[in-house]
Amino acid sequence: MKVAVLTGGGDCPGLNAVIRAIFRRAGRYGFEIMGMRNGWRGLIEDDHFRLTRESTSGILHRGGTILGTSRVNPFKVERGLEKVLKTVERHNIGAVIAIGGEGTLGAAARMFEHGLKVVGVPKTIDNDLGGTDVTFGFDTAVGIATEAIDRLHSTAEAHSRVIVCEVMGRHVGWIATYAGIAGGADVILVPEHPVDLSEMAQHIKRRHMSGRTFSIVVVAEGTKIKRSPDEIEHLVTSGKLDEAGRPRLGGIGQLVAEEIERRTGIETRVSVLGHIQRGGTPSAFDRVLATRYGVYACDMVARGEFGKMAALKGTQICSVDLSEATRELKRVPDDFFEVAQVFFG
Ligand code: F6P
Repeated sequence: MKVAVLTGGGDCPGLNAVIRAIFRRAGRYGFEIMGMRNGWRGLIEDDHFRLTRESTSGILHRGGTILGTSRVNPFKVERGLEKVLKTVERHNIGAVIAIGGEGTLGAAARMFEHGLKVVGVPKTIDNDLGGTDVTFGFDTAVGIATEAIDRLHSTAEAHSRVIVCEVMGRHVGWIATYAGIAGGADVILVPEHPVDLSEMAQHIKRRHMSGRTFSIVVVAEGTKIKRSPDEIEHLVTSGKLDEAGRPRLGGIGQLVAEEIERRTGIETRVSVLGHIQRGGTPSAFDRVLATRYGVYACDMVARGEFGKMAALKGTQICSVDLSEATRELKRVPDDFFEVAQVFFG
């Protein structure tokens, strides 16, 4: 049987580990693995190449994806669905393994309703996909952000400054919360809790008046500003849209830093981690998780478990419905965030 594999959405450390695992497990079933280029676009435009032992060797530790990626959604492209199904028919593709986050797997769930035999693998550094305890890529991003916060600590302390560290997290604050706890942040701002800038500045001021000489503030890029109880502002600086038509975020760190300095008089600097969190080599945890997902996804294809996604529940890999996994984003629960709040101040 021919199995097509695609990687969609923002890239993520561990994508190559999944691709390698799928290819290696496929040997057991005699599957031929077709690599579709640039996410769903590969199926729409019939752009692919055959994966081989050579092309999938030496990639376990490499960031990015040998397949390329895009945020193209077949349901937003003219006759996209029809084109995907045509490619599948033309090459007699028996199954598709889609590796992606909410966008890519949301499209996979809809594709399944239209008859595509699809299996999902959950990826995103944001960790915001439902149905699974963890997505691969998250651990690597948290490790990078934590190391950055550690480094910011010593320079903030040396100069008696406030440093604001902006991390990724469009809809949720998993990276900010985890890296903030691990790095000992004094304030963590997340999309789940719109920030009142005046309250936050007062908090920093009180902290410094009680003898602290520096502060570290971690802010997720999707954090909203609470202007008043009814007015919540989603910050967009560039005015540009990404490939999926979503506003390009960025600028919250700068705004928070300016407001802290203006309201407290304490010198405040900002450091935006951006794509550094997403690029480069995956952590050992993510390599193992990605490998387990890849092997399991191949087994799901062999069992004919379509319309489902490989997921981690506790320590076990299992499968969950794609429609259920993509129904709602997984936000940081309040009781988890409360753990971080113990250390604010
Ligand atoms: O991978 C998810 C994510 O990290 C979001 O947190 C962020 O908004 C987005 O990617 C940015 O991706 P890009 O710069 O590729 O549009």
